[in-house]
Amino acid sequence: MSRTIIALDFSSKEEVVNFLKQFDEPVWVKIGMELTYAEGLSIVETVKAMGHHIFLDLKLHDIPNTVKGGMKNLAKLGVDMTNVHCAGGIAMMKAAREGLDAGAPEGQRPLLLGVTILTSISKEAMNNELGIEGDVLDTVVKYALNAKEAGLDGVVCSVHEAKAIREACGEDFCIVTPGIRLADDNVNDQKRVATPAYAKEQGSSMLVVGRSITGAADPKKTYELIEGMMN
Ligand code: C5P
Repeated sequence: MSRTIIALDFSSKEEVVNFLKQFDEPVWVKIGMELTYAEGLSIVETVKAMGHHIFLDLKLHDIPNTVKGGMKNLAKLGVDMTNVHCAGGIAMMKAAREGLDAGAPEGQRPLLLGVTILTSISKEAMNNELGIEGDVLDTVVKYALNAKEAGLDGVVCSVHEAKAIREACGEDFCIVTPGIRLADDNVNDQKRVATPAYAKEQGSSMLVVGRSITGAADPKKTYELIEGMMN
């Protein structure tokens, strides 16, 4: 199975279609809020029609009943993976799962991931702004355990947190990690990056890779190179 999810951080359908034309085999792609808010949810249909697997990264976070209704409708789109913020609490995560179970066709429920603490949040911000004491890693592991208890399939987290989550949540838990760069890449705005080999060693199940692939001279070749490092 493919273990690289390509982040389609483009702002138009045209760019997405042009980019994906070079992949003749199905790949996993991530559609986030930038693209969704520009093109609407019809972008999901377009990418699905090209045969690709979709991680719809909209990070829902609201009261349980609202999230349940939202997830029920997202499940009908036929996406393969979607997510919520763990900060919404166990009841909200359980409701998200119930919504997906209710909305998805039999046997086709999308995988549900929890976003732990955003990698843009420092310990200072977590302690002083969010009012959560202690280290980020302890909160991240607690959020991952909450996600597991609520029936989620896994979490999105930093590579640097993957090992502790793998130990706490077990082998079957899906750990998806962004912030990936090849050794000679530009880091761009990411603060803490890791190579695919290191991510694999730390226990990542799947990687989210954006600019290292989308900005490469040969995106398909770079994708295959990363896949080779993960498998
Ligand atoms: O281009 P790059 O590989 O940095 O893109 C990473 C993708 O993963 C982007 O879509 C970004 O929004 C997402 N992401 C991230 N860090 C997180 C969560 C999501 O970089 N903590």
